[in-house]
Amino acid sequence: MDLGDRTYLIHIGSSLLADAGEICVGLGLAGKCLVVSDTAVAGAHADEVCTRLSAAGSDPRLASVPSGENSKRHEQLLSLYDQAVDHGLERSSFVVALGGGVVGDLAGYLAATYLRGIRYVQIPTTIVSMVDSAVGGKTGINMPEGKNLIGAFWQPHAVIADLGTLDTLPAREFRSGLAEVVKYGVIADAAFFERLESEAEAVLGREKVLLEEVIARSCEIKADVVRQDEREGGLRAILNFGHTVGHAIEKVARYGTFLHGEAISVGMIFAAEVSARCGALPMASVDRLRNLLSIFGLPSSAPSCEWPALRATIRVDKKNVDANPRFVLADSIGHVRFGCEVEESVLEEVWNGLGK
Ligand SMILES: NC(=O)c1ccc[n+]([C@@H]2O[C@H](COP(=O)([O-])OP(=O)(O)OC[C@H]3O[C@@H](n4cnc5c(N)ncnc54)[C@H](O)[C@@H]3O)[C@@H](O)[C@H]2O)c1
Ligand SMILES: [Zn+2]
Repeated sequence: MDLGDRTYLIHIGSSLLADAGEICVGLGLAGKCLVVSDTAVAGAHADEVCTRLSAAGSDPRLASVPSGENSKRHEQLLSLYDQAVDHGLERSSFVVALGGGVVGDLAGYLAATYLRGIRYVQIPTTIVSMVDSAVGGKTGINMPEGKNLIGAFWQPHAVIADLGTLDTLPAREFRSGLAEVVKYGVIADAAFFERLESEAEAVLGREKVLLEEVIARSCEIKADVVRQDEREGGLRAILNFGHTVGHAIEKVARYGTFLHGEAISVGMIFAAEVSARCGALPMASVDRLRNLLSIFGLPSSAPSCEWPALRATIRVDKKNVDANPRFVLADSIGHVRFGCEVEESVLEEVWNGLGK
């Protein structure tokens, strides 16, 4: 990830947890550290990480939160501050985020704010966190009023994505993460999208060499966008392809009914249909997108969500300029535009057309 003096490496490969201690030492990260994880991930992977950190001369303490989105809240954060103080973390100490996006966002925000900011390393263990949340420096927690309302931009010192950790990831979580991978093809790389189409079964079979390439290409695309627009002044918005409606689906259907990637799958099909109606995207491309997402076991509609409820939720989306929602629309697979306004009647008709 190329960000001037805050540039960092994204390590992707198999058996990388074994190198975690050495990678940290190599970056000058030594001494006390808090390894933040969740119960599911800690049970499977924390021993190895802590052992490797100790062997490399660090002094790790494990701080585990319950699995799930509900842990991205200030009560958990306060408990982590307490554990950091209790373990004696100083300015020179560091945090390790071992888990999915929930742990990454929470531990990243802890690192961003503890002692006005200490260093941290991301060890993502889900597809979503490997290709999205661990890269780019957005950290934060939720409030009862909404997701990610409190946060900071705080870049990690390294990202260590060990494909071996995916062996324990439940199938539904794995498939959900693939929605973000497909998104990268749509927004930036037609050849990558084609590769996903031709090797979909091998991706689903978690074939390691292929996964490594797929995750690396996804990270590259995200890093390239973030490098050009770290704080979301403009271009970074393209990463939100499918997310305007996707976020609304998550909320209206109540969080947890749809996993994030499942909601984004529907949101991307919606955005593609709108792109075909209002712009240049051929219907054949919409069909390809729908088909690929369906092979990955992802939904193309959310019949339980009525348009008026979705529209009301979109109205309060923090990314709107004035009260009008802006959409990311595709001209072709591999190329999108952001900041597009769309007529209300088109939005509603397209939504109602999906639900059948
Ligand atoms: N900061 C960003 O730029 C950014 C980007 C995208 C998403 N996010 C955030 O990420 C979060 C979603 O992340 P997620 O999809 O990784 O969810 P998650 O962290 O909740 O992980 C999903 C589930 O899988 C379990 N799990 C994780 N890794 C495992 C493994 N290797 N083996 C067994 N179980 C495992 C977890 O315990 C959890 O139950 C959301 O809070 C979202 O807001 C942030
Ligand atoms: Zn997303």
